[in-house]
Amino acid sequence: MTPLLDVQHLTVTFERPGAALTAVHDLSLTIQPGETLGLVGESGSGKSVTALAILRLLQPPGRVTSGRVLFEGRDLLSLSEAEMRSVRGGRISLIFQEPMTALNPTMRIGDQIAEALTAHGVSHADARQRTVELLDAVRIPDAARRARDYAHQLSGGMRQRVMIAIALACRPPLVIADEPTTALDVTIQAQVLEMLRELRSRFNLAIMLITHDFGVIAEMADRVAVMRGGELMEHGPVRQILRQPSHEYTRRLLSAVPGMGRR
Ligand SMILES: Nc1ncnc2c1ncn2[C@@H]1O[C@H](COP(=O)(O)OP(=O)(O)OP(=O)(O)O)[C@@H](O)[C@H]1O
Ligand SMILES: [Mg+2]
Repeated sequence: MTPLLDVQHLTVTFERPGAALTAVHDLSLTIQPGETLGLVGESGSGKSVTALAILRLLQPPGRVTSGRVLFEGRDLLSLSEAEMRSVRGGRISLIFQEPMTALNPTMRIGDQIAEALTAHGVSHADARQRTVELLDAVRIPDAARRARDYAHQLSGGMRQRVMIAIALACRPPLVIADEPTTALDVTIQAQVLEMLRELRSRFNLAIMLITHDFGVIAEMADRVAVMRGGELMEHGPVRQILRQPSHEYTRRLLSAVPGMGRR
């Protein structure tokens, strides 16, 4: 099967006068349609930089110095900025940890979801209707009324659901979720993960799930890629990595999860 996303030999550096830091080094990974790939690794291992590089959201001095990011038959690194804007949100969405920074505090949440749709060519009338459907899909009760709320009127878990609704608005085949539930308390985290699982099967969504939490990986991922110091340490089916990690580093990450050693 042709992968949906095929990252080949990606290298990202941050250059400063007199110093160059290689944040991601020769990283290759694939994601099949509908597949969830867990990307794990300790803090600073290059997970977020990888996500930003794929979406071409790196800020200078961050720069992709080599590699290809093949997606739906095109190398994203060679697209124009205009083409890239239609990929972002349209074909690949990003969900990250802090919804407050992603949501506009001065705009009703319904309008923000509608804007995500109209920006990709949906008519205003259709966007209004789909906004309520999307809020329903992320299980926001009383969606039509809630659409008129502002972000500050919602709980952290609800805000994260709104961000997911925005991410899924255009039915992208791929979502990159960077620590999507890390800021939430355990109960809300479980609800959001369950909802993501449901949406994933409903929309045949592929997910690149970035986390340092192997508990989340065990629950969500089909395959795992373990990063350390910008490099891929090991990768494979989630069951195999959880049962028989081949690197001491992976064993250490695993042993940090309560109960994981025994599973
Ligand atoms: N804007 C930047 N300028 C310089 N170096 C950066 C910048 N952003 C990231 N880096 C460096 O790139 C490396 C990878 O960072 P990255 O944010 O990808 O880590 P991460 O795996 O996402 O960590 P965490 O789990 O803490 O989110 C780190 O060494 C970091 O210091
Ligand atoms: Mg990160």
